[in-house]
Formats: sequence, C-alpha cells, structure tokens
Amino acid sequence: MMPKDMKEHLKEVIEQSERPREQVVNIIYALQRHYGYLSDEALHEAAEILSMSPLEIEELATFYDFIYRKPVGKYVIHACDGVVCWMFGEGSMVDYLCRTLQVKIGETTADGLFTVLPTACIGYCDNAPAILINAKPYGNLTPDSIDRILETFRNRQPALEEVR
Ligand code: FES
Repeated sequence: MMPKDMKEHLKEVIEQSERPREQVVNIIYALQRHYGYLSDEALHEAAEILSMSPLEIEELATFYDFIYRKPVGKYVIHACDGVVCWMFGEGSMVDYLCRTLQVKIGETTADGLFTVLPTACIGYCDNAPAILINAKPYGNLTPDSIDRILETFRNRQPALEEVR
C-alpha cells in the first residue's frame, strides 16, 4: 500500500488539475517509482484515486513502453528497435544484448541488474545505434562498446541516494 502522505499528495495533484485524467501517466509513474514497477496493487491504487476502472489504467499502462507491469532490474535497457539502429552489424542490437546478458526479451538477468526491453525509435538516430539505460542515452554503439558499458554498470558503486 502506498504511504498515506504519498496518497494525499497524488490526490492533491489530481484535484488541482483542470482535467484530472491528464494526470494518469504522472500518477502511474509516481507509483512505479515507489514500487519499482506498476504492480497490480499500484494499478488498483491508481484507479481508485483517479476514479477510473482498473481496466482503463491497464490499457494505458500496457500502451507505454516505459511503464513496467512486471518487476524489472536495477538498470532497464531500452534497446532501440528502429530501422536506423538496425545497422548494428551483429544481427540486431536487441538480440546481441539478450545473447550477452543471457536473457530473453523482457527478462531480467539472474543478478537482478539488467532488464532488456525493445523500444521504438528513441529520437537519437543521429547517434544510432542507440539504447537508453535508466533513461540515459548511449549511442554509436558497437558490440565492444556495449560490453564496456555493461561492465561499467556492473562495477558501478551505488549512488548516494541508492544507499540511503
Ligand atoms: S531509430 Fe534508433 S534512435 Fe532512432
């Protein structure tokens, strides 16, 4: 269950909005940040405070690539599956990531670090092939540079806000 103060804050956001339904995605994101993904519980909480049906929330949640209905790893890799990024040279970039990390699309690595999700063009075509890792873009990728980036994340010290 979301904390009481969070619920009050989100209700306030909705009430102050001229068109409350326009807040749906913001509310879903806030819940996703809290739970780590949009769990069934979070989906029902969103429906309740927005006075919408769980089915309406589900339809929106499954429409957006960046809303996760299943638990994800610490680092979510959105691998661009757009046509400009197909010039990867090792088959598709999504296939390479899955092969390297030994996961299927949508799965999380056994160490809980990486989830691989394909996505449509991320608007970084001039730096194709490109991926997003936790919303940060990485471009001009090759198999070698992907390996280096993944290694950097594996060795990364947790940021201060992650250890608090
Ligand atoms: S097609 Fe990959 S960033 Fe645009």
